[in-house]
Amino acid sequence: MSETTLVTGIGELVTNTEEFGTLRDAAVVLDGERVAWVGRADAAPDADVRVDVAGRAVLPGWVDSHTHLIFAGDRTAEFEARMAGQPYEAGGIRTTVAATRAASDEVLALNLHRLRQEALRQGTTCLETKTGYGLTVTDEKRCAALAAEVADEVTFLGAHVVPDTVTADEYVDLVCGPMLDAVAEHVGWIDVFCETGAFDAEQSARVLAAGRARGLGLRVHGNQLGPGPGVRLAVEHGAASVDHCTHLTEADVDALAGSATVATLLPACDLSTRQPLAPARRLLDAGARISLATNANPGSSYTTAMAYCVATAVLQMKLSIAEAIWAATAGGALALGRDLHAEGAVGVLRPGARADVHVLDAPSAVHLAYRPGVPLTWSVWHRGTQVVIPTAP
Ligand code: NIG
Repeated sequence: MSETTLVTGIGELVTNTEEFGTLRDAAVVLDGERVAWVGRADAAPDADVRVDVAGRAVLPGWVDSHTHLIFAGDRTAEFEARMAGQPYEAGGIRTTVAATRAASDEVLALNLHRLRQEALRQGTTCLETKTGYGLTVTDEKRCAALAAEVADEVTFLGAHVVPDTVTADEYVDLVCGPMLDAVAEHVGWIDVFCETGAFDAEQSARVLAAGRARGLGLRVHGNQLGPGPGVRLAVEHGAASVDHCTHLTEADVDALAGSATVATLLPACDLSTRQPLAPARRLLDAGARISLATNANPGSSYTTAMAYCVATAVLQMKLSIAEAIWAATAGGALALGRDLHAEGAVGVLRPGARADVHVLDAPSAVHLAYRPGVPLTWSVWHRGTQVVIPTAP
């Protein structure tokens, strides 16, 4: 029998579900790795352990559906140059590729675990991460194997950029053949950077088709640095998500609105690369599904802070608090192909969902945007285990 925990005294409980909505004076019961009960505190059943959160707000743990955490080195100098006016053109990816290839598995694993813990301490309980800084069969394979030890979802991004030593078409052959064979046991997804300077529409389509033939889910990096075919391609191939979506035409917005493909928006990256912020409001108003993620990586977005993305989405992208929180939790789950009603669902709090609970040191979730930059995470349960223990009553 697993131990049950009653989390009670919840001032505001965001469940992301139609049946429970947002509750005041609420409680949840956790049973092992699952949520067992949700409702009003005065109707809560008994449990083995009782934790009173004294009027604080509770939400599902963040679902960060886009990160690149398997790398070595950092790119402070590139960032400084950018802040002095240099444009971001993704060329720095090669700097990280060189550092990653030179690093031992131990160094890569240490950095990966450091960043995973950093994210968890801020309430990120479900996390995707990608390969993409190896770009040889051996290096992509070891990056995929390391990622699979830590992440909820692992994406193969061999098609990140073309290494200097081969042509783009030769490299696509490698990605779709021996490299895919080598990583397949460790990954559930395939991704391609469809952008001028990386892979064109035809090359990207080959990568997606090869992934699909291996039974992998599809996602696309698209429309990051300028308008392009990424969104159209993702929708045509039925990708679960197209990520970045910074530069969208009306046709792109319409295509997303008429599809199940989630537009994953990465505001920390847009800010760090001095791009415009993705048109979140336009997408939602058109009826598209969106998620918010950090894009944590050493080049374009060196942050694991989902709360920063939520605050930016509210303060600068014109989302409501509820829309931004949904996009950073349930929206992320949809971008990862998860069913919000399934046993063990993430991004929602209802009986049967995974016991991933984020308690804020604030009476309501509005404080995420009202007090931007303040570390508001007070406690976190991850798969039913309290991994962030509050220091203050
Ligand atoms: O999502 N766009 C491609 N890949 C990363 C950039 C990684 C880097 O600059 O190292 C991104 O922003």
